[in-house]
Amino acid sequence: MAKEPVRVLVTGAAGQIGYALVPMIARGVMLGADQPVILHMLDIPPAAEALNGVKMELVDAAFPLLKGVVATTDAVEACTGVNVAVMVGGFPRKEGMERKDVMSKNVSIYKSQASALEQHAAPNCKVLVVANPANTNALILKEFAPSIPAKNITCLTRLDHNRALGQISEKLNVQVSDVKNVIIWGNHSSTQYPDVNHATVMTPSGEKPVRELVKDDAWLNGEFITTVQQRGAAIIKARKLSSALSAASAACDHIRDWVLGTPEGTWVSMGVYSDGSYNAPAGVIYSFPVTCKNGEWTIVQGLAIDEFSRKKLDLTGVELTEEKELAYSCLS
Ligand code: NAD
Ligand code: LMR
Repeated sequence: MAKEPVRVLVTGAAGQIGYALVPMIARGVMLGADQPVILHMLDIPPAAEALNGVKMELVDAAFPLLKGVVATTDAVEACTGVNVAVMVGGFPRKEGMERKDVMSKNVSIYKSQASALEQHAAPNCKVLVVANPANTNALILKEFAPSIPAKNITCLTRLDHNRALGQISEKLNVQVSDVKNVIIWGNHSSTQYPDVNHATVMTPSGEKPVRELVKDDAWLNGEFITTVQQRGAAIIKARKLSSALSAASAACDHIRDWVLGTPEGTWVSMGVYSDGSYNAPAGVIYSFPVTCKNGEWTIVQGLAIDEFSRKKLDLTGVELTEEKELAYSCLS
C-alpha cells in the first residue's frame, strides 16, 4: 500500500539552498524513494515571485513522489500540518552590520516562526535549523515553542561532519563512504571542533583508526581542523556565494538519518539541546556525536576526550554561551 505523504516545510525556499534542496526532497533523497511528500515553501513577500518560479519548476519536473506544493509568504499557511521543518530562511549579514544586528534580526524571525510551528505544525514535527547562526536560531526556536519537545529541535552540523569525512578521504585517497565516525563538537562556526580521534576507515584488512593511517598528527591537529572550520568561508571566497548544494545535501542526510536511523556502528553529528554530556554547557544547542533509531537521536556516551580535545570542546561551548547571552539581550 502506498505511504501517506509527509509534509516538509522549507523556509527561505526561494534562496540558493532552497533551490538545491527542494528537488532533492521531491526526489526522495531526504525521506526515501518510497515516501511521497508534499512540499511547503515559505519565503518573504519580496521573494514571492521567485518562489512562484520555483513552484513552476517543481511542477515541470514531474517528480513522481511529489504529491503537492504549497508556496506562500504566510508563515501560518506554511507551517500548517508539517511533519518536518527545514528552516533555511534568515537575514544575512550585510555590509556595515555588527554581529548583534544580524543576531537581532534572526532572533525576531525565529521567535515568530517558533510560534507558527508550535501552533500549526503536526504533533511530533521534527525541526532542523540551517540558517545562521544555526545553533542559536535553533535555541530561540526552542525557547519560543515550549510545547515542541526539545529533542525535536536540532541544527545542521552535518555539513561540517561531511566536510571532515571529505578531507580524510582526500588525504588517504580512500572512498569517502569507507570513512566514518568523525565528530563535530559545538557550534556551526569557526570555533567548532572537528575530531578524528574515534574515526575509522574500512580497509581490505578491516577497520583501522584514522590516526594510524594518516600517520601525521601535525596535519590532523592543525591544517585538517582549520580547513574544516574555515570551509564555509573558503566556499564564499570561491563562489562569491555561500555553500548551497553541499548544505542542501547535508540537510537531507541529517533528516534521513534522524527519521530512518543511522547504520549499525556509525554515528553522525547533530546540533541538539545539550544536557551537559561531555561537560558541554547545558541549555545550548551543541553539536554531539549521535546515533538515531525509531526517529530519536541519542548522544553517543563514554568516548575518551584527551586534553587537546577538552580545550577545544570548552572553547566552542564558551562561544555558544556568549551567543545565547547576546540573543537574549536582543529580546529585551
Ligand atoms: P539566500 O539568501 O540565498 O536565501 C535565504 C532566503 O531566506 C531568501 O530567499 C530570503 O528571502 C529568505 N528569508 C529571509 N527572511 C525570511 C523569513 N523571515 N522567512 C522566510 N524566508 C526568509 O541564503 P542561502 O545561501 O540559501 O543560505 C540560507 C542560510 O543558511 C544562511 O543563513 C546561511 O548562512 C545558512 N547556511 C548554513 C549552513 C549550515 O551548515 N548550517 C550552510 C550554508 C549556509
Ligand atoms: C557554511 O558553513 O558553508 C556556511 O555556514 C557559511 C556561511 O557563513 O554562510
